Amino acid sequence: MTDLFRSTRRTFLKTSSLIVAGTGLGWAEAPSDALDPSTLTPFVDPLPIPRVLTPSGKRANPEHHGEQLPFYRVSMREISQKVHRDLPATRMWSFEDSFPGPTLEVQSGQGAIVEWANALPIRHFLPIDHTLHGAEKSVPEVRSVIHLHGGRTPPDSDGYPENWVVPGKSQNCFYPAKQDAALLFYHDHTMGINRLNIYAGMQGLFIVRDPLEASLNLPSGKYEIPMLICDRMLRKDGQLSYPVSEHPDRPWVPEVFGNAMLVNGKLLPYHEVEPRKYRLRIMNGSNARFYRFSLENKKPLSVIGDDQGLLSAPVTVQKIPLAPAERTDLVVDFSDMAGTHVKLISDSFDILEFRVSAKAAGDASPLPSTLRPPLRLDPATAVTTRRLTLDERMDDIQRSMGMLLNNTPWHMPITEKPTLGTTEIWELVNLTDDSHPIHLHLVRFQILDRRRFDQFEYQTKGTLRYTGAAIPPESHEAGWKDTVRADPAMVTRIIIPFEGYAGRYVWHCHILEHEDNEMMRPFEVLAAPEKA
Ligand code: C2O
Ligand code: CU
Ligand code: CU
Repeated sequence: MTDLFRSTRRTFLKTSSLIVAGTGLGWAEAPSDALDPSTLTPFVDPLPIPRVLTPSGKRANPEHHGEQLPFYRVSMREISQKVHRDLPATRMWSFEDSFPGPTLEVQSGQGAIVEWANALPIRHFLPIDHTLHGAEKSVPEVRSVIHLHGGRTPPDSDGYPENWVVPGKSQNCFYPAKQDAALLFYHDHTMGINRLNIYAGMQGLFIVRDPLEASLNLPSGKYEIPMLICDRMLRKDGQLSYPVSEHPDRPWVPEVFGNAMLVNGKLLPYHEVEPRKYRLRIMNGSNARFYRFSLENKKPLSVIGDDQGLLSAPVTVQKIPLAPAERTDLVVDFSDMAGTHVKLISDSFDILEFRVSAKAAGDASPLPSTLRPPLRLDPATAVTTRRLTLDERMDDIQRSMGMLLNNTPWHMPITEKPTLGTTEIWELVNLTDDSHPIHLHLVRFQILDRRRFDQFEYQTKGTLRYTGAAIPPESHEAGWKDTVRADPAMVTRIIIPFEGYAGRYVWHCHILEHEDNEMMRPFEVLAAPEKA
């Protein structure tokens, strides 16, 4: 099939049945009761900051005898929460009493034990597709298993998708957090329904702190603002709407884009700030939407970190792109905006309004010129290079059946078996027409480069011929990552030290509709052989 044909088909699909470009409802066949958020008064609700959970006790550290760790019990529950002053409360599934769930905060190397208790109802309120692997009619409708995204976690605590439990059951997870300070997040990872559970609200933030970060005198306390940003579709009665295909027994849709942008669970909130520096820690919790954040007044943003913590030095940008599951760490200086209102936007969408007070405040947080020692991994240290394709499956009338990794469905035997303590290069060869945010559990990695290649030649002859120069990562994504944007018709190369634990993990696309429909594969880290 030629490129031309592929893109024609794609365009046809996008305009005919699913996505309408622009800022409207986003769905050609939006339900008649769809809410148009532009009809609401914007910026009437203050931005909620998820509370930091306090431990409910201590538990023995499974790795160190005699050592006690903070213990948290976190319940998954159905809640009802107002996302906007003028809307009725929205039914959601979250953790404890709010969406996002409470924030967990741990010290690097200290870690925590969390009991995730499933206290959800036994019926789902979003449309399950029973034809998807793992979501058959033979399994219970409501299941959960929680994963700490970005955590260096032992395999039995990592939230393997098949390791779910039903309402009334709970699971204990051990998070050693032997890793650098970073903004992580926890979310549901249940086989075949994780897009629905997360859309319902099952995610929250998890912050790892360390002494290096603390020594930098970055804005902290109320000057550090965590933001979990996600898009949803709402009905006029304020309830979540998740779209379905035109096949009643196959409701899965390939991507979901909403027009209601929620920041920490509020639609178009405002936040009062002082004219000084703030640290904004943003996580993209959307199912499929890519953002490009900026301040409406075009003032510069200083990026100090990405998914896995601090960059080596701040970089100044005007816009910051963020794929699903990616995080960015920004320092914004409001000192020359005293007395004004300034919006955080993403292209044509309003996200939030900052109200900068007039009174000058002391600001003892100069931005350091270096953040952490730079470290670029040398490709020559890699023991293996794996070429892995991102593929789109078509049915006989050229409709997309979903995506695959390396043309291999989930249930096939494990093919990627790196050895603990070694470094590998993975070449992600994107044969589809979409960008896919590819995430690996357990590890952190660096982006080597992205490079255009001839898709048609690869698909017909199996040969990889580059047609462009290798493009190094953008400066804001040049630190340690756990999720990487693999762009269409590009080979994205990442270099991965397999550190931490041996065992079975997963890697997948973080567009949740793709992940739930076979764009996920297990990998197994093998224990290092005994040295003689
Ligand atoms: Cu945030 Cu396996 O994912
Ligand atoms: Cu993860
Ligand atoms: Cu994808």
